[in-house]
Amino acid sequence: MTFRVSDLTSDDLEALTGLIMDDGGYSMRVFGRPPKADAARDVLHARPPGLGQDSKTTIGLWDDHRLIGVADAVRGYPRPEVMYVGLLQVVPDSQGRGAGRTLHEALFDRAMSTPGITTFRLSIVATNADVAEGFWRRLGYEPTREAKEWVREDGVVTTAHVYELAV
Ligand SMILES: CC(C)(COP(=O)(O)OP(=O)(O)OC[C@H]1O[C@@H](n2cnc3c(N)ncnc32)[C@H](O)[C@@H]1OP(=O)(O)O)[C@@H](O)C(=O)NCCC(=O)NCCS
Repeated sequence: MTFRVSDLTSDDLEALTGLIMDDGGYSMRVFGRPPKADAARDVLHARPPGLGQDSKTTIGLWDDHRLIGVADAVRGYPRPEVMYVGLLQVVPDSQGRGAGRTLHEALFDRAMSTPGITTFRLSIVATNADVAEGFWRRLGYEPTREAKEWVREDGVVTTAHVYELAV
């Protein structure tokens, strides 16, 4: 199967919303509630205060005309040399075929096209670790000593662990 990667824009809002709604329980595990119908706008535009839209990268993975995966990242957070990965999600019926790795490689290529990025960084919420940790470790990420309390919207208190990859 040949995948195609593209930068996502507001033109892809409908396809992105469909993908986010088909999350295999990701939102429940991380936020303690189902995915929100307007979450796609955040995936396209949300970023930390002080960083411009040009710091944000959102890429999609297409299988023929179907959007099957998304990844977003912010360049320069929390330090100038860091690329912070937000969401990386593949629809359940396309998992295990290399889609997640392909999305990460595409993020990597974009980060390397701007000088100065030395580190990829992300957080793994403990209630999603059974799904996510093995994947990120397989891609080379290692846990840092940083962790913070994570309170889900259903009140469950858990932990977000920070992982990094030196590039
Ligand atoms: C995590 C996720 C993105 C992985 O996507 P995927 O398309 O199934 O992953 P890939 O097929 O590209 O796997 C890449 C590698 O990771 C390995 N891998 C994937 N999940 C793994 C796991 N849970 N444990 C161990 N290894 C894992 C694969 O075996 C593969 O190894 P290889 O390339 O050396 O053969 C997908 O499960 C998903 O969308 N989950 C829900 C959202 C989520 O939790 N995202 C992460 C937090 S933001």
